[in-house]
Amino acid sequence: MRLLVLGGTQFLGRHVATAGLDRGHEVATFTRGVSGEPPAGVRALHGDRDDPAALPAALADWQPDLVVDTSCQTRAAARNAAAVLGGVHGYAFVSSLNAYAHWPPGPIGPEDDEPTWTSDEDEYGPIKADAERILGAALPGRFLTARAGLIVGPDDRVDRLGWWLRRIARGGRVVVPAALDQPIAVVDARDLAGWLVDLAAAGASGGVSATGPAGMTTFGGLLDLVREVTGSDAEWVPVPEQELLAAGVEPWQHLPLWLPAEVARTAWDVDTTRARALGLPSRPLAESVAATWAWLQTVDQLPPPPHGRPSPGLPAELEKQLLAAR
Ligand SMILES: NC(=O)c1ccc[n+]([C@@H]2O[C@H](COP(=O)([O-])OP(=O)(O)OC[C@H]3O[C@@H](n4cnc5c(N)ncnc54)[C@H](OP(=O)(O)O)[C@@H]3O)[C@@H](O)[C@H]2O)c1
Repeated sequence: MRLLVLGGTQFLGRHVATAGLDRGHEVATFTRGVSGEPPAGVRALHGDRDDPAALPAALADWQPDLVVDTSCQTRAAARNAAAVLGGVHGYAFVSSLNAYAHWPPGPIGPEDDEPTWTSDEDEYGPIKADAERILGAALPGRFLTARAGLIVGPDDRVDRLGWWLRRIARGGRVVVPAALDQPIAVVDARDLAGWLVDLAAAGASGGVSATGPAGMTTFGGLLDLVREVTGSDAEWVPVPEQELLAAGVEPWQHLPLWLPAEVARTAWDVDTTRARALGLPSRPLAESVAATWAWLQTVDQLPPPPHGRPSPGLPAELEKQLLAAR
């Protein structure tokens, strides 16, 4: 079938394009063409999806059967896609757990019990929730929205796991949160990508929380894997939450993936029964960590994180100060 990837030149979208080729689909990507080109064998269509004229022009000679939409970040982008792509056989949309009105902090139970945002705010979660409604109305019974949790894997320029890999690879004393037994869950971009293509091809519909099984690992379990994969001699220097916060360490940003206990207790508690029933794979975390490390070593200079976000990581001064105190 003809698969259109909205996005498709970076991280998740790039894996979607590759998964489409692997499954024998004819694949095209639609991007502005400013941050790279798709994998070989993929037709590169160009335009800005916020411009209502762009998709109709790009698709004048190439009509897709399936869509996987990884790049929707505005309501206009959703409206423009809905106006043109309502006739496809299956449309798999990449949303976020942030579309849920109660996440964070969660917990997130079965999808049908969890309201999504209904708000005009120009914020990530409300925009994703509105985009789901706009596209869902145009594709009754053929619109699948995957509310993704934390995505990891090669090509990840958001660089959260990447920062830990590079820091731990340098070795020595490494500041870590004291609550290393905190459960966390992630999804590998390659698992998510293949699954999205398969669900679009199946014409699947509905909302699904798309992340790894709750409790699949702990913060400490992940960091131990990172130490193992990088062959590092790093020594953990556990710092209690109150000290991290008092020193000005920003959760999630300065110590990527770290959340204060009060939020973490529920934020990582997401019911993924439907995702598992729909066949979302969850490869061993060691494989994801090893592949991300292998990819990082091929990259001279990481591109900046998407959507104008600052690069994650503990500023050197803060690290020095925290290490000097113990
Ligand atoms: N990372 C996580 O942990 C996480 C968690 C939950 C959900 N998500 C969601 O997962 C998705 C990740 O997608 P991704 O990794 O493929 O990267 P992404 O950064 O969301 O999308 C980048 C792709 O979209 C294209 N693009 C950006 N703006 C565009 C525009 N105005 N018109 C046309 N194309 C445009 C880019 O190419 P050009 O720059 O060349 O246009 C690039 O191919 C996102 O929807 C994100 O919200 C991520």
